[in-house]
Amino acid sequence: MNPTLQLIHRRRSVSAYEDRPIERPVIDAIIGAAMRAPTAGNMMLYSIIEIDDRTLKNKLAESCDNQPFIAKAPLVLLFVADYQRWFDFFEASDVAGYCKAHHQPMRRPQEGDLMLACCDALIAAQTAAIAAESLGIGSCYIGDIMENHNYHRELLHLPRYTFPITLLCFGYPKEAPGHKLRPRFPQASIHFTNGYRRLDKAELDDMFRDRDPKHYVNEAANVGQHFYARKFSADYSVEMSRSVKEAIRRWTEG
Ligand SMILES: Cc1cc2nc3c(=O)[nH]c(=O)nc-3n(C[C@H](O)[C@H](O)[C@H](O)COP(=O)(O)O)c2cc1C
Repeated sequence: MNPTLQLIHRRRSVSAYEDRPIERPVIDAIIGAAMRAPTAGNMMLYSIIEIDDRTLKNKLAESCDNQPFIAKAPLVLLFVADYQRWFDFFEASDVAGYCKAHHQPMRRPQEGDLMLACCDALIAAQTAAIAAESLGIGSCYIGDIMENHNYHRELLHLPRYTFPITLLCFGYPKEAPGHKLRPRFPQASIHFTNGYRRLDKAELDDMFRDRDPKHYVNEAANVGQHFYARKFSADYSVEMSRSVKEAIRRWTEG
C-alpha cells in the first residue's frame, strides 16, 4: 500500500482527546485541505463554522444527543450545506430584475440544490478528516447535529438556505496508535457492477458475521431486530427525521 492508502486504512473515529490545543497553523492546514475538495460546478456550496466558544460547545454536546466529548474536543468544525451565499449574490446582482426582463420567475433553492450542497459539505468534511489524520489528529463525526433543527438554527444564526449537515470533532488521540479498526461489511454486499443487486437472506446474514453483538437490546431475538431497536427506531433517529423534515420544509416553502 502507498502512504495515502495506508493512511485511509488506518483511520478510525476518535472521540477521546488529549487535553492539548491544536495549533492555529495546523487548524488552517486542515481547513485549507477541506477547501481543496471538489464541489459541484466549483460553487463551494458549504460553509465551515469553527466552534471555539466553551458555552456553545457545551450546548452542542447536550443538543447532539448528549455526547460530552464534543465539549472536550480541542477543535469542532460544523459543515453547513450553504446556498445562502449564492442566493445573496444573485439578489445583490439584481437577478430579480434580470428574470423580470426575461419574463421568467426567479428560481429559489429547492430540494435538489439542498442535496447538492450537502454533497459538497460532506466531501469537504471527509477531506478535513483525512488531512487531520495525516497530521496525527483524530476526528469523529456527529450526525446528531441534524436533530433539533430549530434550536441549532437559532443557536448558530443559520439563515434559511443553509443546513448543518455534519459536525466534526478533532483532537490529538488519547489512545495509543495500534488500536483496533471497526469491522466493515464484506465487499460483495457493498460493491455491485452495472446495476443494483438485492441481497438474499444468506447474504444479508453474512454481512453481520463480524458484527454480532453479544447482547441484544429490548428483547430482540436476532441481529436485525437488535439494530432496528438500537438504531433505526431509536429516539435519536425519530427526532432526526422530524428535524430534517422541518428543515426541508423551511428551505422549500414559498
Ligand atoms: C454521518 C456520520 C455520523 C456519525 N455520528 C456519530 C455520533 O454522533 N457520535 C459518534 O460517537 N460517532 C459518530 N459517527 C462515527 C461512526 O460511529 C463511525 O464512523 C463508525 O462506527 C465506523 O467507525 P470508524 O470510523 O472508526 O471506522 C458518525 C459517523 C458518520 C459518518
